[in-house]
Amino acid sequence: MPAHQVTTRHLGAAYPLLTEAGLGSKGVLVGRDLLGGSFVHDPFELYAAGVLSNPNMIVFGQIGRGKSAFVKTYLWRQAVFGRRAWVVDPKGEYRALATAWGARPVSLRPGGSVRLNPLDPGPSGEEDALEGEPGADTALGLRVNRRQAEVLASLAAACLGRSLLPRERAAADLALVQASIRASGGVPTLPQVVDALLEPSVQAAASLRTGRTTLLEDGRDVALELRRLVHGDLRGMFDGPTTAGLDLSGAFVSLDLSALYNSPALGVLMACTTAWLHATLARQSASAATSGAHVFVVVDEAWAVLANLGVARWLQASWKLSRAYGVANVAVLHRLSDLRAVGAADSEQVGLASGLLADSETRVVYGQAPGEVDQASDLLSLSETEAELLPQLRRGVALWKVGRRSFLVQHVVAGAERALVDTDAAMTAGAG
Ligand SMILES: Nc1ncnc2c1ncn2[C@@H]1O[C@H](COP(=O)(O)OP(=O)(O)OP(=O)(O)O)[C@@H](O)[C@H]1O
Ligand SMILES: [Mg+2]
Repeated sequence: MPAHQVTTRHLGAAYPLLTEAGLGSKGVLVGRDLLGGSFVHDPFELYAAGVLSNPNMIVFGQIGRGKSAFVKTYLWRQAVFGRRAWVVDPKGEYRALATAWGARPVSLRPGGSVRLNPLDPGPSGEEDALEGEPGADTALGLRVNRRQAEVLASLAAACLGRSLLPRERAAADLALVQASIRASGGVPTLPQVVDALLEPSVQAAASLRTGRTTLLEDGRDVALELRRLVHGDLRGMFDGPTTAGLDLSGAFVSLDLSALYNSPALGVLMACTTAWLHATLARQSASAATSGAHVFVVVDEAWAVLANLGVARWLQASWKLSRAYGVANVAVLHRLSDLRAVGAADSEQVGLASGLLADSETRVVYGQAPGEVDQASDLLSLSETEAELLPQLRRGVALWKVGRRSFLVQHVVAGAERALVDTDAAMTAGAG
């Protein structure tokens, strides 16, 4: 054959078997790009380079496809770069990782030794005057903390299983203010809020131009549901000041909820935990000691929290704050339809869950059941080839959608990492 000379640029058009250029070499090695080369990813680097407009990630995949294994090794590899990680761990499977990182998981269980106060405040400056009533602020002598009010409303909504009515919301806000007064400068707790709901003050009622009896009725359902966290089956975890002496300054913090994994209250628990975690992190990132250190916040089994409107709404707000606090949120779900299963087709839940997807520009999609492919194509704007691939992906292989680009990646677990990711012990025990 006669030699033919051509520039690489023109060759690119002439030769059909070219592959993606990859995302560069800044970040952690995830594994092999199945179309050639290695695959490296880091949401903060990609954000800085303008490839992504937010650092959040969502990982989808059928049971046992390797979602958690990916997340664990990804965090572990990020440790080399001084990154920190906070994990909400509903199955208690991040223990080995915590130990490797030199951390002790914080275990939450009813009657256990650890309490977290979901009403812990974020950084100062998050206070608002009470809305609507010009005199309300001065009448009660305190401003309501916006974050606390949001958290309280979403917890109440999570417990009630529906959104709050305006009158319930107002009663909850006023109870929070009253509880803050009772806490005399300290952080209010849920029992104090429940007491305030059941015994509203004259000033609180007056600020709404109503009587105490009416205000009590307005807030009664909220109080009765929140009581579950205080006196009911979930007592002893979120009903007092946060336990002193928790080591939260380390690079890795995991919150083990496995004692309640099978409880129908898992969503509420995860909501309380995540609320506390975001407030604590926001406080930390505002302090000089840890500011600048990027953090991954992982919510594994996140489907359990999405079903709830109040929680989903509040979760999306914290997703949106990620850039302000240098946080990359990582949610792990099973199916794309988890996002749609949270409510009726045109409901706010579905809108919020889809918004969460829009606010997560890195989507890692492991194998999906054939019945899921249509929804996945729709929500992720997959090409025909990508859609065909989804049900065929074997364990450890995922389709990565990073901003507008796509990659097919085999996640590689190193020998030394196996002990961190093995969740098959019960399945393989005794096998020859
Ligand atoms: N890339 C990989 N290479 C080798 N083994 C892997 C890989 N990914 C996962 N595994 C193994 O597969 C098993 C299941 O993985 P993992 O627990 O991550 O699944 P999962 O998708 O999180 O499942 P679930 O939905 O039940 O939480 C683990 O024992 C893990 O060691
Ligand atoms: Mg898992």
